[in-house]
Amino acid sequence: MLILNLVSPSLLKRCLSNHHYGYMITKYRMKSAPTPKTALITGGNNGIGLEISRQLALRGVHVFLAARNPHAGSEAAAQIVREKMRCTFVPMDVSDSASIREAFRLVSSNIQRLDILVNNAGILLDHSQPILQTPESVLLSTLQTNAVGALLTAQTFLPIMGRGSRIINVSSSGGQITHGASTFAPAYCISKTTMNAITLQLASALESKGIAVNAMCPGWVKTAMGGQGATRTVQQGADTALWLALEADAHLTGKFFQDRREIAW
Ligand SMILES: NC(=O)c1ccc[n+]([C@@H]2O[C@H](COP(=O)([O-])OP(=O)(O)OC[C@H]3O[C@@H](n4cnc5c(N)ncnc54)[C@H](OP(=O)(O)O)[C@@H]3O)[C@@H](O)[C@H]2O)c1
Repeated sequence: MLILNLVSPSLLKRCLSNHHYGYMITKYRMKSAPTPKTALITGGNNGIGLEISRQLALRGVHVFLAARNPHAGSEAAAQIVREKMRCTFVPMDVSDSASIREAFRLVSSNIQRLDILVNNAGILLDHSQPILQTPESVLLSTLQTNAVGALLTAQTFLPIMGRGSRIINVSSSGGQITHGASTFAPAYCISKTTMNAITLQLASALESKGIAVNAMCPGWVKTAMGGQGATRTVQQGADTALWLALEADAHLTGKFFQDRREIAW
C-alpha cells in the first residue's frame, strides 16, 4: 500500500504489467523520505535546552531530550510529541558517568548516528560569592556538571557520531578571559572557561573525523538560571545554538560564538 502511494499510477501500471519489480523497488527507494537528523540535548527539560529541543524538533530533527529529573524530562518530551514532533526522553545526569553511559546505551539502541550533540546542562551555585570564600564542594560540583559532564558526554556518544556531526557547548561570556575574568560567580565562570578549553581540545582532536565542535554564549536569558530580570527570551538565547546545529558552515570548528558572530575566548 505504501508503494501505491509513492509511485505514480502510470509507472505502477507499467511495473505490474511487466512484472518489473526490481525497477519498482528502485523507484520506491528513490521516493522514500530521507532519514531525519538526530540530536541529543542535555538539560533539555527547562529553559534554553527545552527551547533548543523544541526548535530542532520543529525542523524535523528526531530529538533525544535528556534530563536528570525523570518526571520533568518525560513531561517536556511528551509535550513536544503532543505537538506532533519527534522527541524521545532520555534519563541522564551529566554529573554521573554511569548515567551518561546508560543514556548512550538507550540512544544507540534507537539510532545508528547522532548528528547533533548540545551540551546545555548547567548549574550556577555561587552568584555574588567572592572567590576567596568559594567552598571546595561548590567549585567541584560546578566543574563536574558544567565542564567535565560536557566532555564525558562527548566522549561517550562519539561512537555514533561521524563526519558532519556537530557538538555545541552552551558556554557563557562569563567564561571569557581575553580581557580579564568575570567575577559575578567565580566557580561558574571558571567552569565555563574550562568548557571553552574543552571545546578547543575536542575541536582539535575531532577535526580529522570531520566533527565540528564549537562553544556559544546565549546572552542573559530569562530562565530559572538567568532570572526574570534578564534581557533575552529563550528564543533569542537558543538562536546561535540552532544556527550552529543546522546552518553554520560545517568547517567552522574550535570557535566561540554569540549572536552568530565569533567572540573572543
Ligand atoms: N540563562 C542565562 O542567562 C545564561 C547565560 C549564559 C549561559 N547560560 C547557559 O545556558 C545553559 C542553560 O541554562 P538555562 O538558563 O536554560 O538554565 P536552567 O533553566 O536552570 O536550565 C538548566 C538545565 O540544566 C539541567 N541540569 C543541571 N544540572 C544537571 C545535571 N547534573 N544533569 C543533567 N541536567 C542538569 C537542569 O535540570 P533541572 O531542571 O533538573 O535542574 C536544567 O534542565 C547552561 O549551561 C547555562 O550555563 C545561561
